[in-house]
Amino acid sequence: MPAMIEIVEADITALRVDAIVNAANETLLGGGGVDGAIDRAAGPRLVTACRALPQVRPNVRCPTGQARITSGFDLAKFVIHTVGPIWHGGARGEAELLASCYRESLRLARENGVRRIAFPAISCGVYRYPLDAAAMIAVREVRAWQVANARASSVIFCCFGVATRNAYRRTIGIAENEN
Ligand code: APR
Repeated sequence: MPAMIEIVEADITALRVDAIVNAANETLLGGGGVDGAIDRAAGPRLVTACRALPQVRPNVRCPTGQARITSGFDLAKFVIHTVGPIWHGGARGEAELLASCYRESLRLARENGVRRIAFPAISCGVYRYPLDAAAMIAVREVRAWQVANARASSVIFCCFGVATRNAYRRTIGIAENEN
């Protein structure tokens, strides 16, 4: 079956997929938002697995724009941890770093035989990336990856709330009031 893109409004920890992407920070040792929800749902072995990943600099296990994969323990087969950019106005390479998060996550998914993967709106919470601009990058990168790669994963954009869902729908060209 060809790789697909879906947009759903949900708590990402409620989805049944092979891999769940976490919008993490560079320490990979946990946080709030979707990171906290994933930690709780996966159980304490997740942070232990993250702590075991090598540090590339003191306390940095995953630099911004990169991704790492671990087991998803109680949550899913895999959790893919990626670190989006903090929004500083757009002139500090934020768009390229965000695009890289999607590409690197999809690359790890493909290497690990992931058939379905769910992404949250990386950087769109505490990191304050403007939603429409982020949705545009997310959709563009996933589409390009799926076109370019045989055995690409099917992707669910998991939107926490209707505003996020509508931003993705606008981007993908679906009317906002369709159900
Ligand atoms: N399911 C799906 N999406 C969620 C959930 C959830 N359970 N909880 C929050 N979100 C959404 C937010 O509404 C937002 O759209 O995930 C998106 C990303 O928000 P954040 O979790 O704040 O992530 P980000 O902006 O990338 O900031 C990362 O927050 O938790 C810390 O450790 C993390 O320091 C890092 C920072």
